[in-house]
Amino acid sequence: MYNGLLHAHSGLRWIVLILLLAAIFNAFSKKKSGVWTAKDKKLSVFAMVFTHIQFLIGLVLYFKSPKVNFMEGFMKDDVLRFFAVEHISMMIIAIALITIGHSKSKKAVTDAKKFGAIATFYLIGLILILASIPWPFRNLGGSWF
Ligand code: HEM
Repeated sequence: MYNGLLHAHSGLRWIVLILLLAAIFNAFSKKKSGVWTAKDKKLSVFAMVFTHIQFLIGLVLYFKSPKVNFMEGFMKDDVLRFFAVEHISMMIIAIALITIGHSKSKKAVTDAKKFGAIATFYLIGLILILASIPWPFRNLGGSWF
């Protein structure tokens, strides 16, 4: 089960990134004069739901992964500290921001404000996510897929 979830979590990153990019690009391009339609709502909901699924898989991995180990001195080990503290906390902040952005887009009264909420909150969330992925070049034991 651990291996399956790890592969799912690793591969799902690409779907999350593509959906967030699509929602952000869509929001920025329609912010000025666009009309908010069911399609725009669908895109922002999809992007948010996939980050939530990623969170749930990550949460299970957190309790199963050998890389999350609170042994003595784990804060001095780059890999152990990254997965026990940095990855989870940054991702939770990012996912919370994306969720706030979505809820603000629902409450906003003008279409420009709906697009604006998605553009701003999803963009900050995406930047935090990109900065907190264990990309292979960071030597944290992560892979590309
Ligand atoms: C959008 C949010 C997230 C993205 C894009 C993401 C992405 C990734 C990626 C790419 C890996 C490396 C997998 C591999 O190389 O095979 C990873 C590992 C991991 N993630 Fe996440 N993650 C996210 C959120 C979370 C959250 C919220 C948690 C915890 C609650 C979490 C827990 C973990 C753990 C424990 C590992 C290490 C698994 C292992 O190698 O044993 N992730 N994540």
